[in-house]
Amino acid sequence: MNNIQINSQGQLKHFLGIEGLNRDILLRILDTATSFIMDESKAVKKVPILRGKTIVNLFFENSTRTRTTFELAAKRLSADVLNFNINTSSTSKGESLIDMLHNLQAMHCDMFVVRHSVTGAPHFMAQHIAPDVRIINAGDGQHEHPTQAMLDMYTIRQHKPDFSSLRVAIVGDILHSRVARSDIHALKILGVPDIRVIAPKTLIPRELDKLGVRIFNDLTTGLQDVDVIMMLRLQQERMKTALLPSTHEYFNYYGLTEKALLVVDSDAIVMHPGPINRGVEIDSLVADGSRSVILQQVSNGIAIRMAVMAMTLGTIEV
Ligand code: CP
Repeated sequence: MNNIQINSQGQLKHFLGIEGLNRDILLRILDTATSFIMDESKAVKKVPILRGKTIVNLFFENSTRTRTTFELAAKRLSADVLNFNINTSSTSKGESLIDMLHNLQAMHCDMFVVRHSVTGAPHFMAQHIAPDVRIINAGDGQHEHPTQAMLDMYTIRQHKPDFSSLRVAIVGDILHSRVARSDIHALKILGVPDIRVIAPKTLIPRELDKLGVRIFNDLTTGLQDVDVIMMLRLQQERMKTALLPSTHEYFNYYGLTEKALLVVDSDAIVMHPGPINRGVEIDSLVADGSRSVILQQVSNGIAIRMAVMAMTLGTIEV
């Protein structure tokens, strides 16, 4: 499904998912982002790489971090940015996704950044768009959130440069998490040997073990000696049936507290893609504590999204 992401020269054309990409591409994204991180420290934050290009943010689901960092990233690359308001668009009058896309394409837009509740929506758009227009997946259903995974890998590499010796635990609502799927693919591709998933049985998707992860239902056992803890939000809005007795009980067994951290080294880092639910999956003392890199993840999202936009539009040699 992801082959349409890569052109005949092996370069990124669209960015739809981590699955199916190779280590070389992921490292190129991380290294390209590094050059934009350095630019961020300069007084003039803008670079003219995408001057004259028009980028449309098409968010069919709510977002704080992803939408705003995509907008900031596009502006720092000197692109023109349009934040399309789905609620006031003609989709409410019955216009189809493809008709809307073709109309926006007729306005000579160069890239669409798409978040959609339906799995595969960005892939579908990439299959129906003009050859010179690019699609970036900003999160599709419960499938993938590839730029989140890349900013997560970037943040991990800042603190733990050697992927080949890492122990990483992903904790929480794996069942509904597109972030978990993209992160697992990225960690595997980058050579992380020990990937653990910790959750109650009801929040673990069937056949997850086929992705090469170790599954734990007990937090203390699963966290033993890990270097990186990736917490996930409990996505109650996606739960169609009662999968947990209560959020209070969930926090008692799976909430990340200072006590739960006693089994990891003092230099282990705590991550969370956001939005965080304090007192549900993570205690405030941990979310705001010295191990937390949660806000670094947000900052790194700008450089990663600059890298992905510049690479897919082919405006920089990498
Ligand atoms: N991490 C993430 O996707 O956050 P938003 O939903 O705020 O974009």
